[in-house]
Amino acid sequence: MLAENHERKTVKLGILYGVGVGPGDPGLLTLRAVEVLCRVQVVFSATGAHSQDCISGSVVDAVPGCQAERVTLVFSMAREMEDRRQAWSENAEKVVDVLRQGKDCAFATIGDPLIYSTYTYLLRRVRELLPEVRVETIPGITSFQAVAARNNLPLVEDRETLGLIPAWTRESVHDPQFHSADTVVLLKTYHHRREILTALQENGFAGECIYASRVGLAGEEMVSGIDAIARIPETYLSLIIAKRQPEKVK
Ligand SMILES: C[S@@+](CC[C@H](N)C(=O)[O-])C[C@H]1O[C@@H](n2cnc3c(N)ncnc32)[C@H](O)[C@@H]1O
Repeated sequence: MLAENHERKTVKLGILYGVGVGPGDPGLLTLRAVEVLCRVQVVFSATGAHSQDCISGSVVDAVPGCQAERVTLVFSMAREMEDRRQAWSENAEKVVDVLRQGKDCAFATIGDPLIYSTYTYLLRRVRELLPEVRVETIPGITSFQAVAARNNLPLVEDRETLGLIPAWTRESVHDPQFHSADTVVLLKTYHHRREILTALQENGFAGECIYASRVGLAGEEMVSGIDAIARIPETYLSLIIAKRQPEKVK
């Protein structure tokens, strides 16, 4: 027993890397992300309980030198927070198991790991279970940066401000950033699209408005203008970037 305890204490913990893999196009992976994905022993990717595909996993598949064991973790996207919490905890335990074996691992996540990502919830729980764990977060190119770049659209210039709104609830149309920001980025535009478009119109954002879905992936769609956007069916992997019309700029 004593010997067993001693052995457990002397195993060096693995390092956890939170790796942003960008919006889906492997060409938008950073060199640091590739280096880490090729170095670790295990790569975890996240998918939703009802998802057909695992986008972060597909990006990792495209990294030629990645020999790591691959594990897909299923996360609940239910509105009930209890379901989500349970999935975060269960998946954190799986990650901790690997770290306790001394294996370095990466949690690959779309876009940037610190922007509306499952990674931050998982990380909190991993740290509760393993406070001494070493963690490194590798930033990724966000979905909205990729959309702005594709359209050569300056997100903000000079004194302009940028608002980031998770637009999946009805209440999000009352977000104060509709009144204060010069450019708004609306993520998760898969519910209440009509209300969102009305809020954009009423707040002077109708002039320059781009909708994009599945950027960098098969089935990508990109349209501009309120009327054209209104005709597109709602889908999870979509966003809107809108710029306030000049006469309303502060
Ligand atoms: C959970 S958030 C993840 C955000 C991500 N961490 C980032 O930095 O872009 C998911 C939302 O990001 C946006 N998104 C992520 N990847 C996208 C893509 N390839 N095309 C369009 N929107 C995307 C959508 O608004 C989607 O509902």
